[in-house]
Amino acid sequence: MSERVFIFDTTLRDGEQSPGNTMNTQEKLRVARQLELLGVDIIEAGFPIASDGDFDAVRQIADTIKNSEIAGLARANDDDIDRAWGAIKGAEKPRIHTFISTSDIHLKHQFRKNKDEILKIAVNAVKRAKKYTSNVEFSAMDATRSDWDYLCKVFAEVIAAGAVTVNVPDTVGYTVPEEFGRLIRYIKENVPNISQAIISVHCHNDLGLAVANSIAAIQNGARQVECTINGIGERAGNASLEEIAMILRTRKDIFPADTRIVSEKIYPASRLITAITGVSVQPNKAIVGANAFAHESGIHQDGLLKAKLTYEIMTPESVGISKSSLVLGKHSGRHAFRERIEGLGYTLDDKELNLTFKRFKTLSDMKKHVYDEDIEMIIMDEIYKIPEKYKLVYLNVSCGNITIPTATVKLEADGNVYQEVGVGDGPVDATFKIIKKIAKTSSKLVKFSVNSITKDMDAQGEVFVKVEEKGLIAIGKGADTDIIVASAKAYINALNRLEYVKTKKG
Ligand code: KIV
Ligand code: ZN
Repeated sequence: MSERVFIFDTTLRDGEQSPGNTMNTQEKLRVARQLELLGVDIIEAGFPIASDGDFDAVRQIADTIKNSEIAGLARANDDDIDRAWGAIKGAEKPRIHTFISTSDIHLKHQFRKNKDEILKIAVNAVKRAKKYTSNVEFSAMDATRSDWDYLCKVFAEVIAAGAVTVNVPDTVGYTVPEEFGRLIRYIKENVPNISQAIISVHCHNDLGLAVANSIAAIQNGARQVECTINGIGERAGNASLEEIAMILRTRKDIFPADTRIVSEKIYPASRLITAITGVSVQPNKAIVGANAFAHESGIHQDGLLKAKLTYEIMTPESVGISKSSLVLGKHSGRHAFRERIEGLGYTLDDKELNLTFKRFKTLSDMKKHVYDEDIEMIIMDEIYKIPEKYKLVYLNVSCGNITIPTATVKLEADGNVYQEVGVGDGPVDATFKIIKKIAKTSSKLVKFSVNSITKDMDAQGEVFVKVEEKGLIAIGKGADTDIIVASAKAYINALNRLEYVKTKKG
Protein backbone atom coordinates (compact mmCIF):
# COMPACT_ATOMS: atom_id res chain seq x y z
CA MET A 1 0.00 0.00 0.00
CA SER A 2 1.28 3.46 -0.81
CA GLU A 3 2.42 5.69 2.04
CA ARG A 4 0.83 9.01 2.88
CA VAL A 5 2.23 12.43 2.01
CA PHE A 6 0.72 15.13 4.22
CA ILE A 7 -0.28 18.32 2.47
CA PHE A 8 0.43 21.46 4.47
CA ASP A 9 -1.18 24.36 2.67
CA THR A 10 0.27 27.81 3.29
CA THR A 11 -1.86 29.81 0.84
CA LEU A 12 -3.24 31.83 3.76
CA ARG A 13 0.20 32.59 5.19
CA ASP A 14 3.10 32.50 2.72
CA GLY A 15 0.66 33.03 -0.15
CA GLU A 16 -1.29 35.83 1.45
CA GLN A 17 1.82 37.74 2.52
CA SER A 18 2.99 38.16 -1.10
CA PRO A 19 2.20 41.43 -2.91
CA GLY A 20 -1.34 41.79 -4.18
CA ASN A 21 -2.64 38.66 -2.46
CA THR A 22 -4.03 40.28 0.68
CA MET A 23 -7.36 38.80 1.78
CA ASN A 24 -9.82 39.93 4.39
CA THR A 25 -11.05 37.67 7.19
CA GLN A 26 -14.20 36.64 5.38
CA GLU A 27 -12.22 35.73 2.27
CA LYS A 28 -9.71 33.77 4.35
CA LEU A 29 -12.51 31.82 5.98
CA ARG A 30 -13.95 30.97 2.60
CA VAL A 31 -10.54 29.78 1.39
CA ALA A 32 -10.06 27.72 4.54
CA ARG A 33 -13.41 25.98 3.99
CA GLN A 34 -12.43 25.23 0.41
CA LEU A 35 -9.07 23.82 1.56
CA GLU A 36 -10.88 21.61 4.05
CA LEU A 37 -13.10 20.27 1.24
CA LEU A 38 -10.01 19.76 -0.88
CA GLY A 39 -8.66 17.39 1.74
CA VAL A 40 -5.70 19.49 2.90
CA ASP A 41 -4.19 17.91 6.04
CA ILE A 42 -2.83 21.09 7.61
CA ILE A 43 -3.95 24.65 6.88
CA GLU A 44 -1.43 27.29 7.89
CA ALA A 45 -3.98 29.98 8.65
CA GLY A 46 -1.62 32.90 9.23
CA PHE A 47 0.98 34.59 11.38
CA PRO A 48 -1.01 35.66 14.45
CA ILE A 49 1.54 38.10 15.88
CA ALA A 50 1.75 40.04 12.59
CA SER A 51 -1.39 42.11 13.29
CA ASP A 52 -4.72 42.02 15.12
CA GLY A 53 -6.38 41.29 11.78
CA ASP A 54 -4.16 38.24 11.23
CA PHE A 55 -4.80 37.03 14.77
CA ASP A 56 -8.54 37.34 14.37
CA ALA A 57 -8.59 35.56 11.00
CA VAL A 58 -6.53 32.65 12.37
CA ARG A 59 -8.79 32.44 15.42
CA GLN A 60 -11.97 32.35 13.33
CA ILE A 61 -10.53 29.70 11.03
CA ALA A 62 -9.41 27.63 14.02
CA ASP A 63 -12.89 27.85 15.52
CA THR A 64 -14.58 26.87 12.24
CA ILE A 65 -12.56 24.16 10.51
CA LYS A 66 -12.96 20.63 11.80
CA ASN A 67 -11.29 18.25 9.37
CA SER A 68 -7.88 19.86 8.84
CA GLU A 69 -5.23 20.75 11.39
CA ILE A 70 -4.83 24.50 11.87
CA ALA A 71 -1.30 25.83 12.14
CA GLY A 72 -0.25 29.27 13.38
CA LEU A 73 3.22 30.58 12.55
CA ALA A 74 5.51 31.93 15.26
CA ARG A 75 9.11 33.08 15.32
CA ALA A 76 11.20 31.32 17.94
CA ASN A 77 10.31 33.57 20.85
CA ASP A 78 7.82 33.46 23.70
CA ASP A 79 5.60 36.33 22.54
CA ASP A 80 5.09 34.89 19.07
CA ILE A 81 4.41 31.42 20.41
CA ASP A 82 1.96 32.60 23.07
CA ARG A 83 0.14 34.70 20.48
CA ALA A 84 0.00 31.83 18.00
CA TRP A 85 -1.48 29.58 20.67
CA GLY A 86 -4.03 32.25 21.58
CA ALA A 87 -5.26 32.20 17.99
CA ILE A 88 -5.33 28.45 17.34
CA LYS A 89 -6.31 27.01 20.68
CA GLY A 90 -9.97 26.63 19.65
CA ALA A 91 -9.04 24.30 16.79
CA GLU A 92 -9.91 20.65 16.86
CA LYS A 93 -6.31 19.91 15.87
CA PRO A 94 -4.04 22.91 16.55
CA ARG A 95 -0.40 23.07 15.50
CA ILE A 96 2.28 25.60 16.45
CA HIS A 97 4.79 26.17 13.68
CA THR A 98 7.90 27.87 15.00
CA PHE A 99 10.99 28.79 13.01
CA ILE A 100 14.46 30.30 13.06
CA SER A 101 17.25 30.45 10.50
CA THR A 102 20.14 28.00 10.50
CA SER A 103 22.32 29.22 7.60
CA ASP A 104 25.62 30.97 8.26
CA ILE A 105 24.49 33.81 6.01
CA HIS A 106 21.37 34.50 8.10
CA LEU A 107 23.15 33.92 11.40
CA LYS A 108 25.89 36.38 10.56
CA HIS A 109 23.95 39.11 8.77
CA GLN A 110 20.43 38.92 10.14
CA PHE A 111 20.52 37.39 13.60
CA ARG A 112 24.11 38.26 14.55
CA LYS A 113 24.25 35.17 16.74
CA ASN A 114 26.45 32.11 16.77
CA LYS A 115 25.33 28.54 16.11
CA ASP A 116 25.10 27.56 19.77
CA GLU A 117 22.91 30.55 20.56
CA ILE A 118 20.55 29.75 17.67
CA LEU A 119 20.36 26.11 18.72
CA LYS A 120 19.38 27.14 22.23
CA ILE A 121 16.70 29.54 20.94
CA ALA A 122 15.27 26.81 18.69
CA VAL A 123 15.11 24.26 21.52
CA ASN A 124 13.55 26.74 23.95
CA ALA A 125 10.94 27.72 21.36
CA VAL A 126 9.91 24.11 20.84
CA LYS A 127 9.74 23.56 24.61
CA ARG A 128 7.57 26.64 25.00
CA ALA A 129 5.22 25.52 22.23
CA LYS A 130 5.14 22.03 23.68
CA LYS A 131 3.60 23.38 26.89
CA TYR A 132 0.52 24.21 24.84
CA THR A 133 0.29 21.32 22.38
CA SER A 134 2.05 18.11 21.45
CA ASN A 135 1.68 19.13 17.80
CA VAL A 136 4.78 21.28 17.23
CA GLU A 137 6.54 21.87 13.93
CA PHE A 138 10.01 23.38 13.74
CA SER A 139 11.37 25.03 10.56
CA ALA A 140 15.05 25.69 9.92
CA MET A 141 14.78 28.76 7.73
CA ASP A 142 17.26 28.89 4.83
CA ALA A 143 17.98 25.20 5.46
CA THR A 144 19.29 24.63 1.95
CA ARG A 145 22.14 27.13 2.50
CA SER A 146 22.92 25.76 5.97
CA ASP A 147 25.75 23.51 7.00
CA TRP A 148 24.23 20.00 6.72
CA ASP A 149 25.75 18.68 9.95
CA TYR A 150 24.63 21.72 11.91
CA LEU A 151 21.14 21.31 10.44
CA CYS A 152 21.08 17.67 11.56
CA LYS A 153 22.22 18.69 15.04
CA VAL A 154 19.44 21.30 15.31
CA PHE A 155 16.84 18.80 14.12
CA ALA A 156 18.04 16.14 16.58
CA GLU A 157 17.74 18.57 19.48
CA VAL A 158 14.37 20.04 18.55
CA ILE A 159 12.98 16.53 18.10
CA ALA A 160 14.36 15.65 21.55
CA ALA A 161 12.57 18.77 22.82
CA GLY A 162 9.30 17.55 21.33
CA ALA A 163 8.99 18.68 17.69
CA VAL A 164 6.99 16.11 15.73
CA THR A 165 7.56 17.70 12.31
CA VAL A 166 10.88 19.13 11.12
CA ASN A 167 10.65 21.33 8.09
CA VAL A 168 13.41 21.93 5.54
CA PRO A 169 12.69 25.21 3.79
CA ASP A 170 14.41 26.23 0.59
CA THR A 171 13.64 29.78 1.63
CA VAL A 172 15.34 31.50 -1.30
CA GLY A 173 14.59 28.89 -3.97
CA TYR A 174 18.27 28.05 -4.36
CA THR A 175 18.51 24.27 -4.41
CA VAL A 176 18.07 21.84 -7.32
CA PRO A 177 16.29 18.45 -7.24
CA GLU A 178 19.32 16.16 -7.07
CA GLU A 179 20.96 18.18 -4.30
CA PHE A 180 17.73 18.59 -2.33
CA GLY A 181 16.96 14.88 -2.56
CA ARG A 182 20.44 14.15 -1.19
CA LEU A 183 19.91 16.62 1.67
CA ILE A 184 16.67 14.92 2.70
CA ARG A 185 18.35 11.52 2.61
CA TYR A 186 21.26 12.93 4.63
CA ILE A 187 18.84 14.18 7.29
CA LYS A 188 17.13 10.78 7.36
CA GLU A 189 20.42 9.01 7.82
CA ASN A 190 22.17 11.43 10.18
CA VAL A 191 19.52 12.61 12.64
CA PRO A 192 19.49 9.75 15.18
CA ASN A 193 15.92 10.33 16.40
CA ILE A 194 14.41 11.23 13.00
CA SER A 195 11.95 8.32 13.23
CA GLN A 196 10.10 10.35 15.90
CA ALA A 197 9.30 13.15 13.42
CA ILE A 198 7.96 13.71 9.95
CA ILE A 199 10.32 15.37 7.49
CA SER A 200 8.62 18.27 5.74
CA VAL A 201 9.78 20.47 2.85
CA HIS A 202 8.89 24.03 1.92
CA CYS A 203 10.21 25.09 -1.47
CA HIS A 204 10.22 28.50 -3.12
CA ASN A 205 10.17 28.89 -6.85
CA ASP A 206 12.89 31.44 -7.62
CA LEU A 207 14.52 29.13 -10.16
CA GLY A 208 11.24 27.52 -11.20
CA LEU A 209 12.12 24.33 -9.31
CA ALA A 210 9.81 24.39 -6.28
CA VAL A 211 7.66 21.48 -7.43
CA ALA A 212 10.57 19.44 -8.80
CA ASN A 213 12.49 19.93 -5.55
CA SER A 214 9.46 18.91 -3.46
CA ILE A 215 9.03 15.76 -5.54
CA ALA A 216 12.72 14.89 -5.19
CA ALA A 217 12.29 15.30 -1.43
CA ILE A 218 9.34 12.89 -1.39
CA GLN A 219 11.39 10.35 -3.32
CA ASN A 220 14.01 10.62 -0.60
CA GLY A 221 11.80 10.31 2.43
CA ALA A 222 9.95 13.61 3.03
CA ARG A 223 6.34 12.95 4.01
CA GLN A 224 4.97 16.48 4.35
CA VAL A 225 4.97 19.07 1.59
CA GLU A 226 4.25 22.74 2.17
CA CYS A 227 2.62 24.33 -0.83
CA THR A 228 -0.01 26.81 -2.01
CA ILE A 229 -2.92 26.95 -4.42
CA ASN A 230 -1.78 28.31 -7.79
CA GLY A 231 1.75 28.39 -6.35
CA ILE A 232 1.25 31.87 -4.88
CA GLY A 233 3.77 33.04 -2.29
CA GLU A 234 6.80 35.21 -1.59
CA ARG A 235 8.56 36.44 -4.75
CA ALA A 236 8.26 33.72 -7.42
CA GLY A 237 5.92 31.81 -5.14
CA ASN A 238 5.80 28.44 -3.38
CA ALA A 239 5.44 24.93 -4.73
CA SER A 240 2.03 24.56 -6.31
CA LEU A 241 -0.33 22.24 -4.44
CA GLU A 242 -2.25 21.17 -7.53
CA GLU A 243 0.90 20.14 -9.38
CA ILE A 244 2.30 18.09 -6.51
CA ALA A 245 -1.02 16.36 -5.87
CA MET A 246 -1.54 15.49 -9.53
CA ILE A 247 2.05 14.33 -10.07
CA LEU A 248 1.69 11.83 -7.24
CA ARG A 249 -1.78 10.77 -8.41
CA THR A 250 -0.95 10.48 -12.11
CA ARG A 251 2.36 8.69 -11.60
CA LYS A 252 1.26 6.27 -8.90
CA ASP A 253 3.33 3.72 -10.78
CA ILE A 254 6.60 5.32 -9.66
CA PHE A 255 5.85 7.20 -6.45
CA PRO A 256 5.86 5.49 -3.08
CA ALA A 257 3.28 7.84 -1.62
CA ASP A 258 0.00 9.68 -2.25
CA THR A 259 -2.03 12.45 -0.62
CA ARG A 260 -5.66 12.54 0.52
CA ILE A 261 -6.38 15.48 -1.81
CA VAL A 262 -9.83 15.29 -3.40
CA SER A 263 -8.57 16.12 -6.87
CA GLU A 264 -12.02 17.18 -8.18
CA LYS A 265 -11.88 20.14 -5.80
CA ILE A 266 -8.61 21.47 -7.24
CA TYR A 267 -10.05 23.68 -9.96
CA PRO A 268 -12.72 25.30 -7.73
CA ALA A 269 -9.97 26.08 -5.20
CA SER A 270 -7.78 27.60 -7.90
CA ARG A 271 -10.64 29.72 -9.25
CA LEU A 272 -11.51 30.87 -5.76
CA ILE A 273 -7.99 32.16 -5.16
CA THR A 274 -7.97 33.92 -8.53
CA ALA A 275 -11.35 35.46 -7.91
CA ILE A 276 -10.42 36.69 -4.44
CA THR A 277 -6.95 38.02 -5.21
CA GLY A 278 -7.56 39.11 -8.79
CA VAL A 279 -4.33 37.38 -9.74
CA SER A 280 -4.92 35.04 -12.68
CA VAL A 281 -2.76 32.03 -13.40
CA GLN A 282 -0.95 32.04 -16.73
CA PRO A 283 -2.93 30.23 -19.47
CA ASN A 284 -0.30 27.51 -19.82
CA LYS A 285 -0.09 26.83 -16.07
CA ALA A 286 -0.10 23.08 -15.43
CA ILE A 287 -3.37 21.59 -14.13
CA VAL A 288 -5.39 24.80 -13.71
CA GLY A 289 -4.37 27.10 -16.60
CA ALA A 290 -6.98 27.92 -19.25
CA ASN A 291 -5.02 25.92 -21.83
CA ALA A 292 -4.07 23.00 -19.59
CA PHE A 293 -6.57 20.74 -21.34
CA ALA A 294 -6.98 22.61 -24.63
CA HIS A 295 -5.73 20.63 -27.60
CA GLU A 296 -5.11 22.85 -30.61
CA SER A 297 -3.02 20.73 -32.93
CA GLY A 298 -4.91 18.73 -35.58
CA ILE A 299 -2.86 15.60 -34.93
CA HIS A 300 -3.62 15.77 -31.21
CA GLN A 301 -7.32 16.40 -31.80
CA ASP A 302 -7.46 13.47 -34.18
CA GLY A 303 -5.80 11.21 -31.62
CA LEU A 304 -8.07 12.41 -28.82
CA LEU A 305 -11.19 11.69 -30.84
CA LYS A 306 -9.98 8.15 -31.36
CA ALA A 307 -8.92 7.57 -27.74
CA LYS A 308 -8.45 10.12 -24.95
CA LEU A 309 -5.43 8.21 -23.72
CA THR A 310 -3.44 9.25 -26.80
CA TYR A 311 -2.80 12.79 -25.61
CA GLU A 312 -4.46 13.12 -22.19
CA ILE A 313 -2.59 11.87 -19.13
CA MET A 314 -5.39 12.92 -16.77
CA THR A 315 -8.94 14.05 -17.43
CA PRO A 316 -10.14 17.63 -16.89
CA GLU A 317 -12.96 16.17 -14.80
CA SER A 318 -10.44 14.59 -12.42
CA VAL A 319 -9.28 18.07 -11.39
CA GLY A 320 -12.78 19.49 -11.28
CA ILE A 321 -12.99 21.11 -14.71
CA SER A 322 -16.36 20.19 -16.05
CA LYS A 323 -16.25 19.99 -19.84
CA SER A 324 -19.94 19.38 -20.25
CA SER A 325 -20.93 22.18 -17.95
CA LEU A 326 -24.51 23.16 -18.37
CA VAL A 327 -24.77 26.76 -19.51
CA LEU A 328 -27.42 28.75 -17.67
CA GLY A 329 -29.68 31.34 -19.25
CA LYS A 330 -32.68 33.49 -18.48
CA HIS A 331 -35.02 30.52 -18.22
CA SER A 332 -32.91 28.78 -15.63
CA GLY A 333 -34.54 28.59 -12.25
CA ARG A 334 -33.33 28.87 -8.72
CA HIS A 335 -32.82 25.14 -8.36
CA ALA A 336 -30.51 24.89 -11.38
CA PHE A 337 -28.67 27.98 -10.17
CA ARG A 338 -28.12 26.53 -6.70
CA GLU A 339 -26.91 23.23 -8.17
CA ARG A 340 -24.45 25.04 -10.40
CA ILE A 341 -23.11 27.04 -7.48
CA GLU A 342 -22.63 23.89 -5.42
CA GLY A 343 -20.96 22.22 -8.39
CA LEU A 344 -18.49 25.09 -8.45
CA GLY A 345 -17.60 24.32 -4.86
CA TYR A 346 -19.45 27.16 -3.10
CA THR A 347 -21.90 26.78 -0.26
CA LEU A 348 -24.18 29.78 0.12
CA ASP A 349 -26.82 30.40 2.76
CA ASP A 350 -30.34 31.44 1.70
CA LYS A 351 -29.63 35.15 1.95
CA GLU A 352 -26.50 34.84 -0.17
CA LEU A 353 -28.34 32.68 -2.67
CA ASN A 354 -31.10 35.27 -3.00
CA LEU A 355 -28.61 38.04 -3.61
CA THR A 356 -26.64 36.16 -6.22
CA PHE A 357 -29.74 34.77 -7.93
CA LYS A 358 -31.09 38.31 -8.36
CA ARG A 359 -27.83 39.38 -10.00
CA PHE A 360 -27.87 36.27 -12.17
CA LYS A 361 -31.35 37.17 -13.43
CA THR A 362 -30.27 40.69 -14.32
CA LEU A 363 -27.24 39.35 -16.15
CA SER A 364 -29.19 36.71 -18.04
CA ASP A 365 -31.44 39.47 -19.36
CA MET A 366 -28.34 41.09 -20.86
CA LYS A 367 -26.57 38.03 -22.21
CA LYS A 368 -27.83 34.78 -23.65
CA HIS A 369 -25.50 32.32 -21.94
CA VAL A 370 -24.32 32.63 -18.38
CA TYR A 371 -21.17 30.58 -17.82
CA ASP A 372 -19.44 29.35 -14.68
CA GLU A 373 -16.99 32.24 -14.85
CA ASP A 374 -19.89 34.73 -14.92
CA ILE A 375 -21.41 33.09 -11.86
CA GLU A 376 -18.13 33.18 -9.99
CA MET A 377 -17.84 36.88 -10.75
CA ILE A 378 -21.32 37.45 -9.32
CA ILE A 379 -20.37 35.53 -6.18
CA MET A 380 -17.20 37.53 -5.75
CA ASP A 381 -19.05 40.82 -6.27
CA GLU A 382 -21.92 40.04 -3.94
CA ILE A 383 -20.45 37.81 -1.24
CA TYR A 384 -16.81 38.74 -0.84
CA LYS A 385 -17.23 42.44 -0.46
CA ILE A 386 -14.56 44.41 1.31
CA PRO A 387 -15.65 47.58 3.14
CA GLU A 388 -16.66 50.05 0.44
CA LYS A 389 -15.42 53.56 1.07
CA TYR A 390 -16.23 54.40 -2.56
CA LYS A 391 -19.27 53.29 -4.55
CA LEU A 392 -20.14 53.95 -8.17
CA VAL A 393 -23.54 55.61 -8.39
CA TYR A 394 -23.69 56.73 -12.01
CA LEU A 395 -21.47 56.70 -15.08
CA ASN A 396 -22.08 58.22 -18.47
CA VAL A 397 -19.46 58.29 -21.18
CA SER A 398 -19.45 59.74 -24.65
CA CYS A 399 -16.76 58.73 -27.07
CA GLY A 400 -16.22 57.98 -30.73
CA ASN A 401 -13.86 58.73 -33.59
CA ILE A 402 -14.70 62.44 -33.79
CA THR A 403 -15.63 63.13 -30.16
CA ILE A 404 -13.45 64.14 -27.25
CA PRO A 405 -13.95 61.32 -24.77
CA THR A 406 -15.96 62.75 -21.90
CA ALA A 407 -17.13 61.04 -18.74
CA THR A 408 -19.59 62.02 -16.06
CA VAL A 409 -19.14 60.14 -12.82
CA LYS A 410 -21.23 60.18 -9.68
CA LEU A 411 -19.34 58.58 -6.84
CA GLU A 412 -20.28 57.96 -3.25
CA ALA A 413 -17.33 58.57 -0.96
CA ASP A 414 -17.71 58.08 2.79
CA GLY A 415 -21.46 58.39 2.49
CA ASN A 416 -21.48 61.66 0.46
CA VAL A 417 -22.26 61.76 -3.24
CA TYR A 418 -20.05 63.77 -5.61
CA GLN A 419 -20.41 64.37 -9.32
CA GLU A 420 -17.76 65.54 -11.79
CA VAL A 421 -17.37 65.77 -15.56
CA GLY A 422 -14.08 65.56 -17.43
CA VAL A 423 -12.26 64.54 -20.56
CA GLY A 424 -9.43 62.14 -21.22
CA ASP A 425 -7.38 60.38 -23.89
CA GLY A 426 -10.04 57.71 -24.12
CA PRO A 427 -13.24 56.77 -22.30
CA VAL A 428 -11.39 54.75 -19.65
CA ASP A 429 -8.84 57.49 -19.10
CA ALA A 430 -11.60 60.10 -18.73
CA THR A 431 -13.47 57.89 -16.26
CA PHE A 432 -10.39 57.10 -14.20
CA LYS A 433 -9.30 60.74 -14.04
CA ILE A 434 -12.60 61.74 -12.52
CA ILE A 435 -12.69 58.86 -10.06
CA LYS A 436 -9.15 59.75 -9.00
CA LYS A 437 -10.14 63.39 -8.56
CA ILE A 438 -13.24 62.66 -6.48
CA ALA A 439 -11.46 60.04 -4.36
CA LYS A 440 -8.54 62.46 -3.89
CA THR A 441 -6.24 59.47 -4.09
CA SER A 442 -2.51 59.89 -4.50
CA SER A 443 -2.19 56.26 -5.61
CA LYS A 444 -0.75 55.48 -9.03
CA LEU A 445 -2.37 53.19 -11.55
CA VAL A 446 0.30 50.60 -12.33
CA LYS A 447 -1.62 47.98 -14.28
CA PHE A 448 -4.79 47.78 -16.29
CA SER A 449 -5.91 44.68 -18.18
CA VAL A 450 -9.12 43.61 -19.85
CA ASN A 451 -10.21 40.05 -20.60
CA SER A 452 -13.39 38.62 -21.89
CA ILE A 453 -14.77 36.26 -19.24
CA THR A 454 -16.29 33.94 -21.80
CA LYS A 455 -16.14 33.69 -25.55
CA ASP A 456 -19.43 35.08 -26.89
CA MET A 457 -19.93 38.53 -28.41
CA ASP A 458 -22.11 39.47 -25.45
CA ALA A 459 -19.48 38.26 -22.97
CA GLN A 460 -18.81 40.19 -19.81
CA GLY A 461 -15.56 42.10 -19.80
CA GLU A 462 -13.39 41.38 -16.78
CA VAL A 463 -11.03 44.18 -15.84
CA PHE A 464 -8.09 44.00 -13.45
CA VAL A 465 -6.52 47.13 -12.08
CA LYS A 466 -3.45 47.45 -9.89
CA VAL A 467 -2.79 50.61 -7.87
CA GLU A 468 0.19 51.53 -5.75
CA GLU A 469 0.65 54.04 -2.95
CA LYS A 470 3.82 54.32 -0.88
CA GLY A 471 4.76 50.71 -1.55
CA LEU A 472 1.28 49.38 -0.79
CA ILE A 473 -0.31 47.53 -3.66
CA ALA A 474 -3.95 46.69 -4.24
CA ILE A 475 -5.64 44.83 -7.03
CA GLY A 476 -9.21 45.50 -8.04
CA LYS A 477 -11.50 43.71 -10.39
CA GLY A 478 -14.78 44.42 -12.04
CA ALA A 479 -17.01 42.71 -14.54
CA ASP A 480 -19.80 44.02 -16.71
CA THR A 481 -21.13 43.59 -20.20
CA ASP A 482 -19.97 47.21 -20.70
CA ILE A 483 -16.17 47.43 -20.63
CA ILE A 484 -16.09 51.03 -19.38
CA VAL A 485 -18.41 50.21 -16.49
CA ALA A 486 -16.27 47.12 -15.72
CA SER A 487 -13.17 49.37 -15.73
CA ALA A 488 -14.76 51.88 -13.36
CA LYS A 489 -15.84 49.07 -11.03
CA ALA A 490 -12.35 47.58 -11.08
CA TYR A 491 -10.66 50.91 -10.31
CA ILE A 492 -13.07 51.66 -7.47
CA ASN A 493 -12.60 48.12 -6.14
CA ALA A 494 -8.81 48.65 -6.18
CA LEU A 495 -9.16 51.94 -4.28
CA ASN A 496 -11.40 50.23 -1.71
CA ARG A 497 -8.87 47.43 -1.35
CA LEU A 498 -6.08 49.95 -0.93
CA GLU A 499 -8.01 51.58 1.91
CA TYR A 500 -8.51 48.13 3.41
CA VAL A 501 -4.79 47.30 3.14
CA LYS A 502 -3.97 50.63 4.80
CA THR A 503 -6.16 49.85 7.79
CA LYS A 504 -4.57 46.41 8.05
CA LYS A 505 -1.06 47.85 8.12
CA GLY A 506 -1.91 50.78 10.31
O1 KIV B 1 10.32 30.25 3.30
C1 KIV B 1 10.45 30.02 4.51
O2 KIV B 1 11.55 29.71 5.01
C2 KIV B 1 9.28 30.15 5.36
C3 KIV B 1 9.39 29.64 6.75
C4 KIV B 1 8.65 30.50 7.71
C5 KIV B 1 8.93 28.22 6.81
O3 KIV B 1 8.24 30.56 4.89
ZN1 ZN C 1 8.25 30.42 2.65
